Amino acid sequence: MASIPELDHLKIPLEDIKLATNNFSDSNFIGQGGFGRVYKGQLPLSAFAASTTTSRSTNPTARPATIAVKRLDVKGGQGQHEFLMEIAMLSSYKHDNLVSLVGFSEEGDEKIIVYEHEVRGSLDKYLATDLTWVQRLQICLGAARGLNYLHDGVGEGHRVLHRDIKSSNILLDENWEAKVSDFGLSKIGPTNQEFTFLVTTAAGTFGYVDPIYITTGVLTKESDVYSFGVVLFEVLCGRLAMIGKYEDERRFLAHLARLRYEEGKLDEIIIPSIRKQIKPNSLQTFSRIAYQCLKLERKQRPTMATIMEQLQISLEFQISCRRITRIGLWGSSTGGSPWSFQLDGSHKLRKITLDHEDWIYSIGFTTEDLSGLFNSSQQHGGGGGRSGGQISEINFDADEDITGILGTVGVTTGRYRGYIVISSLCFRTNKQSFGPFGKETGDRFSVPWDVGSFAGFYGRAGFYLDGLGCYLKATM
Ligand SMILES: Nc1ncnc2c1ncn2[C@@H]1O[C@H](COP(=O)(O)OP(=O)(O)OP(=O)(O)O)[C@@H](O)[C@H]1O
Ligand SMILES: [Mg+2]
Repeated sequence: MASIPELDHLKIPLEDIKLATNNFSDSNFIGQGGFGRVYKGQLPLSAFAASTTTSRSTNPTARPATIAVKRLDVKGGQGQHEFLMEIAMLSSYKHDNLVSLVGFSEEGDEKIIVYEHEVRGSLDKYLATDLTWVQRLQICLGAARGLNYLHDGVGEGHRVLHRDIKSSNILLDENWEAKVSDFGLSKIGPTNQEFTFLVTTAAGTFGYVDPIYITTGVLTKESDVYSFGVVLFEVLCGRLAMIGKYEDERRFLAHLARLRYEEGKLDEIIIPSIRKQIKPNSLQTFSRIAYQCLKLERKQRPTMATIMEQLQISLEFQISCRRITRIGLWGSSTGGSPWSFQLDGSHKLRKITLDHEDWIYSIGFTTEDLSGLFNSSQQHGGGGGRSGGQISEINFDADEDITGILGTVGVTTGRYRGYIVISSLCFRTNKQSFGPFGKETGDRFSVPWDVGSFAGFYGRAGFYLDGLGCYLKATM
C-alpha cells in the first residue's frame, strides 16, 4: 500500500476516531458525498494534542476539538490516490479560507480523513435562507480568497486546481467565514507554461462543470472559475446549480442565469429576500463578474484575483451609503474574521475607542442617534483592554467631522511576528488632529475624506485564543 512517511505525524489511531464518533453511529452522521459518509465527533484531548497543528499548539488549554470524519468508501485500493492526495494537499497548503486538516487514519480497510468541524456546515444548505446580501457577499469573498490562494498563492511554479467547486464544498464556520474543502480530486499543475492544462478523466459535479472540460477532458484554472461563477449565481438566486424536477430552462442555473443576464432580466431570478436589499451598483458589479465566469470561451473568463477585487467592490457599494465615496484598502485583506461598522444615516459618530500598543489591537465606535441616545459597537479586533495595550478614546464634538485618516501598515514582530496589521492610526477632523495611536512603522497610507463624509469601516480581525497577542488586521 502506498504511503507518505512525512504525513506520519498526522496519523490518528482508529480507536480514537471510533471513540469520537460513537463507533460511526447514525446520530453522529452529518452527510454523504462522493467520497463516503461524514460524521461529526469529539476527539479526545490526548488524540488531539498528538495530531495538533501549529496554530493549535499556541493554545494548550483548547477543549477537545469537534471534528468532521470522512470515512472513505473503499473497495480494494479504490480511492487510495485521492485519499493521500487530499491529505498531502491539506497538510501543505494553509489559508484562513481553506478547511483545516486535523489528521487521518489508515488502519485495516479503513481510510479516514479528519477535518476541523465547521459548525454551520456547507453553503448549499443556506442558499434559500434569509442570509442577507452582505453576508452572502462576504461568504463569496472568503471562498474567492481560498480559491485564489490555490491558484496563485501556493508557491512559485505551482498551482492547485480544485476541480470540484460547488456550494457543498464551501463550508462555513461560526462567523460565516467560508472554508473551501475537498481537494481530493485536485492536481498540482505547473504555472510556468503558457497554457497550463491537465488531461484527466472527467470529474466534478453536474451543473457546475466547465462545458469545455466535459467535451475535451482538458482542465485549466478557468474550469474552477466557471464552477465558481455557478456558485456566485447560486448565492444570488438562492437555489442550487441543478434542479432535477424542472424540465425547462430553469433546470440548469448556469444556462438560466446567462439567458436572463443577456436579456437584462436577472431581477426575475434573484431570491426575493435580497432583491429588496441589494443596491443597484452592488448587483451590477456582482452579476457582471459572475456572468464573465460563465463565458464559454475560456480566455474571456476572469482570474480569481479579478473576481476577488470585483466582489470587494460589490461589497463596498452595498455597505456604503450615499454620502461617501469609495475608499481603498489598507492592511491585510486576508486572515482573521471580517467585521464591519456602518454609520446609520441619522446617526453621528461621537467616539472612537482604540486599543493599541505596537499596533492597533482593536477599534470600537460610539454613535449618537437623533434622540440623543449613545450606542457603542463591539470592539472589533482583539484585546479590549485585556491585551496589555493602551486604551485611547477620541471624542468628537457634535459638529466635528472626520476629514482624513492617516496611518501605517506594518508587520508584527516579537512572539506573534509576521502578520500584516494596521500599526498606527491618526484621525483628522475639521477642528483638530488625533494621534498617532500605535507605533508608526511600515508603509504610510492616507485616506482623504474631503470628497464625502465618514460612513463606516470594514476590516478583518484575528487574535490568538490565549488572550495575549491580540491584533487587528484592518482593511479601511
Ligand atoms: N469539515 C466539515 N464540517 C462540517 N460539515 C462537513 C464537513 N465536511 C463535510 N461536511 C458536511 O457533510 C456533507 C457531505 O460532505 P462531502 O464532502 O462528503 O460531500 P459533498 O460535498 O456533497 O460531495 P463531494 O463528495 O463531491 O465533495 C457536506 O455537504 C457537509 O454538509
Ligand atoms: Mg464535499
